[in-house]
Amino acid sequence: MMKHRARGEDALPSLAALRRRGAPIVMITAYDYPAGRIAEQAGADVVLVGDSAAMTVLGYSSTREVSVDELLVLTRAVRRAVRNIPVVGDLPFGSYEGSDELAVASARRFVDEAGCDAVKLEGAGDMVARVRAIIDAGIPVVGHVGLLPQSVTSPDGYRARGREVDQALAIIADASALEVAGCAAVVVEAVPSEIGTLIAERLTVPVIGIGAGAATDGQVLVYHDLLGYGEGRAAKFVRRYADAHEEFVGAVRRWGADVRNRSFPAVEEGYRIDSAVLDAVKRKL
Ligand code: KIV
Repeated sequence: MMKHRARGEDALPSLAALRRRGAPIVMITAYDYPAGRIAEQAGADVVLVGDSAAMTVLGYSSTREVSVDELLVLTRAVRRAVRNIPVVGDLPFGSYEGSDELAVASARRFVDEAGCDAVKLEGAGDMVARVRAIIDAGIPVVGHVGLLPQSVTSPDGYRARGREVDQALAIIADASALEVAGCAAVVVEAVPSEIGTLIAERLTVPVIGIGAGAATDGQVLVYHDLLGYGEGRAAKFVRRYADAHEEFVGAVRRWGADVRNRSFPAVEEGYRIDSAVLDAVKRKL
């Protein structure tokens, strides 16, 4: 039976409240327990366990290769860490496009098996029916328009979208269709800032940008991108706040050097035994 649950801005009320107050929404991705703890302690408003995990932590060459089962392991770890803010699970490529039934079944797994507050999926068009079906099943949905990484099949496919009239209009229409379908929020990725502004002006649910300019209701970045935790060139819209990869390589290198010059471990880094006990051990050897 179809359940009637919160849709639109009622579905993720903490984000809607921020939007109403004009307070920018901070969304960050996380893929494991420590990242979830860091996101919450740093004051993020919402955590996305993005399918970007495919590339950032699983080493695949695109997001198209990660499975529901793989993402559920990561999502459960994040949920154990994140106690007070919503967690959004990302439906991976192939887990929802085929039919409404498939979409609902996959979304339900993210809620039932990983404790997600909402799921995200990419695209509009035929996907609007999937969005409606998931919402009708009682599960809040976050939409995603603009650059859709699950549709990218070659490295040059990550360029910005919506620079031509027809494409810009289509992206704006997609965002509106997702709002009408009942999405709790819409992510807009890699579009000209002016198009991000037009979308934010038209929608009444939170619009969360990633490479969509400063006028959206919130921003999302990939944890590994903003921390410099990984190799490779970041997208134009990434601002780096740390160089974790270099720092970690340096730390492990220094530890290796200490092992090799026998300065690790120091006496105080070892356990002690009572000398009488030790003598008894040696006598019995
Ligand atoms: O998977 C992801 O990390 C995402 C963000 C880029 C929005 O979808």
